[in-house]
Amino acid sequence: MTELRTERLRLRPVATSDVAALVEHQTNPEVMRYVPGGARARAAVEALVAGSDAQWKASGHGLFALSHQETGELVGYCGLIVVAEAVELDMILAEEHWTQGIGTEAAAAVIEFARAKGIAKLVALPHDANVAAHRVCEKNGMSPNGSAKLQGVTCVRYELALS
Ligand SMILES: CC(C)(COP(=O)(O)OP(=O)(O)OC[C@H]1O[C@@H](n2cnc3c(N)ncnc32)[C@H](O)[C@@H]1OP(=O)(O)O)[C@@H](O)C(=O)NCCC(=O)NCCS
Repeated sequence: MTELRTERLRLRPVATSDVAALVEHQTNPEVMRYVPGGARARAAVEALVAGSDAQWKASGHGLFALSHQETGELVGYCGLIVVAEAVELDMILAEEHWTQGIGTEAAAAVIEFARAKGIAKLVALPHDANVAAHRVCEKNGMSPNGSAKLQGVTCVRYELALS
């Protein structure tokens, strides 16, 4: 099983056993405020985990569950989603873990993982008002390049060439 470590986090592929904690995070309207589609029902979280599992099997990458090394608590997820023409960096953290540098730390590890996998380019598509997500992208070297509409929401398209 792929496992990454950062200063504070352990990253490993998301699994069915993570669904309950992820549902807790992703049914919080504040957490999902800027995520296209908004709060997710349990079935949507199950579909996200199943899709990631299939992607791990097909491509050797997908979403990572993030757990705190000290407490073992599931902090959220960060990882890669294959979209139409690109590989997207995506992340959702539980609200109590925001603004501690965890999003930046997790994204850096996933970007290095993507580079090692030979992925040529990453995109990220945060809501145009999602300043925290913009900053995570910028702090990891991603640059804005246009916009995209996702489920009726205007998102900034960030890109990072890895090769
Ligand atoms: C977006 C998210 C992952 C950021 O994670 P985080 O761990 O809070 O981010 P960090 O602590 O690494 O902070 C990164 C930068 O954003 C800034 N930031 C964090 N929250 C902010 C906020 N609410 N408003 C403005 N800036 C903010 C930090 O100050 C930091 O910038 P700085 O170093 O210039 O000060 C987290 O807020 C989250 O999970 N949000 C809900 C889900 C979501 O919107 N996901 C993005 C989908 S594209």
